[in-house]
Amino acid sequence: MVSLLENPLRVGLQQDRVPEPQILVIFGASGDLTQRKLVPSIYQMKLERRLPPELTIVGVARRDWSHDFFREHLREGIEQFGGGLQSGATWNEFAKGLFYCPGDIDRAESYQKLKAFLGELDEQRGTRGNRVFYLSVAPRFFGEAAQQLGAAGMLADPKKQRLVIEKPFGRDLSSARVLNRVVRQVCSEDQVYRIDHYLGKETVQNLLVFRFANAIFEPLWNRQFVDHVQITVAETVGLEGRAGYYETSGALRDMVQNHLMQLFSLTAMEPPNSLDADSIRSEKVKVVQATRLADLDNIEHSAVRGQYTSGWMSGKQVPGYREEDGASPDSTTPTYAALKLSIDNWRWKGVPFYLRTGKRMPKKVSEIAIQFKEVPFLMFQSAAKQANPNVLALRIQPNEGISMRFEVKTPGSSLRTRSVNMDFRYDTAFGKPSTDAYARLLIDCMLGDPTLFTRGDEVEASWRVLTPVLEVWDAPAPPDAIPLYEAGTWGPVEAELLLNRDGRRWRRL
Ligand code: BG6
Repeated sequence: MVSLLENPLRVGLQQDRVPEPQILVIFGASGDLTQRKLVPSIYQMKLERRLPPELTIVGVARRDWSHDFFREHLREGIEQFGGGLQSGATWNEFAKGLFYCPGDIDRAESYQKLKAFLGELDEQRGTRGNRVFYLSVAPRFFGEAAQQLGAAGMLADPKKQRLVIEKPFGRDLSSARVLNRVVRQVCSEDQVYRIDHYLGKETVQNLLVFRFANAIFEPLWNRQFVDHVQITVAETVGLEGRAGYYETSGALRDMVQNHLMQLFSLTAMEPPNSLDADSIRSEKVKVVQATRLADLDNIEHSAVRGQYTSGWMSGKQVPGYREEDGASPDSTTPTYAALKLSIDNWRWKGVPFYLRTGKRMPKKVSEIAIQFKEVPFLMFQSAAKQANPNVLALRIQPNEGISMRFEVKTPGSSLRTRSVNMDFRYDTAFGKPSTDAYARLLIDCMLGDPTLFTRGDEVEASWRVLTPVLEVWDAPAPPDAIPLYEAGTWGPVEAELLLNRDGRRWRRL
């Protein structure tokens, strides 16, 4: 039998190829993402010789910076947030390909100026008209930037010009639809790369390999054996100075609609026919289309929000959300969200998927835990005085790996059982760090491989699931409408009730 994974073309096995010479144009280049993540990860790829020598980066933003100022700004970013310059010669070569072109996102003249500048760079650097336009700007500008790029004729060649759009893609279903329409007016779906950096994480991609390259798990991966699934993305950080963005976004838009829904769909989807980008993406869409909130008549039985108050983290007192710089003192923006989802299909009917994410949690940890059903009848005495169901936990970060909890006999004369973990860790097994998520996605985009990017229909399907929650949570409400939790704790008590009502509880991580 031919395994899906024998196909060497997809899911990053393309990564060994070096992309063609091209220009990466970053809109919003004076922002944090460029300095902290994008450029340090591209530079790392440069050090690993995975980039064409001609690679050119052009930063676009409103500030009146010079090329040299931009280069210096990026150098500081690589030193502070990346792995350092490491080689003076490599940096010098890299810096020669960095340029800055000041411009306004909503002014047609800026795009004309940019277009002319890119033309000059093609001559100078041999980049042959190949372009990736990366929109790292406030989400409200995505549509405007796409339209302007289209109007300036900069997306006219589907083979050479691509558009990367950061998240959140839209604010809800209707705005996502509008944005999809705007984008499709100026380019084809094949040119659009909706980025979700969770899909660039090694362990997230490993979900596919784990599920579909092993014979022993898939037969259990269904309603007959699985009791429920818990997906957690907990963060220790707070607002990190991003009030301008976060106040209009909140946990559901910032994390659930994208990162958590990606983890969810990869866990729940059916096996794709091949590793071809569209086979995988179609399966993901299919399962999200079959998904809904568990109780549509009682939203509070399917969705819980929360906001952190001041508390203690690692021995230091941290402010509450409403005291953070730029946050409104009576803000009801959720920094925590938990959902209970149901899937109406043959594989999962009746198996709840619980999702939770929050800022200022006690630990940074992301995992997917598959909890299996209890044994039908337990003849042994358990040390925990109850049967402990088997749990398969896929750790996304940190300590990337997989662990399986099962029962063993405790040593001694009595037949008592205890839970133990069988543990696989990426770092000990492979001894090398995994590729940075942004780097790997950028290279995929430059290679023209959209497998790890979100398709337009998938984004819409995921907003559709969340619409009933958004309708309630977005409604004007007094400050006490949102449950609170102290920074450094696992979220509001209401989130515990979400599971307790079903006779279950969140995993202690
Ligand atoms: C981003 C969110 O997409 O993901 C941030 O905007 C969040 O709010 C971050 O902190 C988490 O990413 P990671 O890779 O640190 O888990």
